[in-house]
Amino acid sequence: MITGRNDPCWCGSGKKYKKCHLPLDRAGHSHPGKTTSGILIKTEEQIVGIRAACRMTSDLLDMVAGRIKDGITTNDIDSWVHEETIARGGIPAPLGYRGFPKSVCTTLNEGICHGIPDETVLKSGDILNVDVTTILNGYYGDANRMFMIGEVSDKARNIIRVAKECLSRGIRMVKSGNRFGDIGWAIQQHANKHGFSVVRDYTGHGVGIEFHEPPNVCHYGKRGTGELIQPGMVFTIEPMINAGTYKCRLLPNGWTAVTRDGALSAQWEHTVRATQNGVEILTSGSRVV
Ligand code: MF3
Ligand code: CO
Ligand code: CO
Repeated sequence: MITGRNDPCWCGSGKKYKKCHLPLDRAGHSHPGKTTSGILIKTEEQIVGIRAACRMTSDLLDMVAGRIKDGITTNDIDSWVHEETIARGGIPAPLGYRGFPKSVCTTLNEGICHGIPDETVLKSGDILNVDVTTILNGYYGDANRMFMIGEVSDKARNIIRVAKECLSRGIRMVKSGNRFGDIGWAIQQHANKHGFSVVRDYTGHGVGIEFHEPPNVCHYGKRGTGELIQPGMVFTIEPMINAGTYKCRLLPNGWTAVTRDGALSAQWEHTVRATQNGVEILTSGSRVV
């Protein structure tokens, strides 16, 4: 497809091609669809679908937030997410994904990610990550949040806050002219400033048409490196921040990563869309982030 300079841009932004993707295309990026490195540039129609899936993901996390308390099990959270996803016309993406046995990830205390719901009872002092991914009309939305159960130590409270700030700082780097390395740099800087480390074995990812798409979005890195962030890219930022070493250990269940030294870990995740002027946080729901 050849787009004239004054035609509407192929990406669906509504702007003239010369004011939108022409400079990027001249710089050697293929279109429409994928960049030379395989990152999908979403169409406006796809964005509408992904936005709805992300909204449902955010609503499901709100639902969990309203019910979570000490005395419940992580299996209870799995049932809530499973039932409510289906009731709202969605599909829980984790269930059966590469053999994952449940509909949501629930990751406790020194867990880093991919905790499997079970009969573990939540108790005061626990910190828990709940990671929800929803498929709606074939589109994916992916987000996670931390929850504090009852009275939580200052240490735990602090790492949860810093991890959330790391996500915000990463998101702030999503703007025209920046590169993926800028996101990782901003996150790593902030984590290190507070004496925390950044997990390297797991990354954010492209998302929307599939659960995991290119690129890997590293939560560490160098300024000005990596691919250019372009309007129409949709991806997650989901920094995993550890109190001690960044190193991970995989539990025998083959899924759950925990800190190698047993120290606490915290994570927050949003699905975001790079826009012409900056960023849209697709999983922030009605909240102001
Ligand atoms: N939601 C996780 C992510 O942020 C992936 C979970 S994969 C699963 O990428 F199979 F464990 F669900
Ligand atoms: Co993700
Ligand atoms: Co997730």
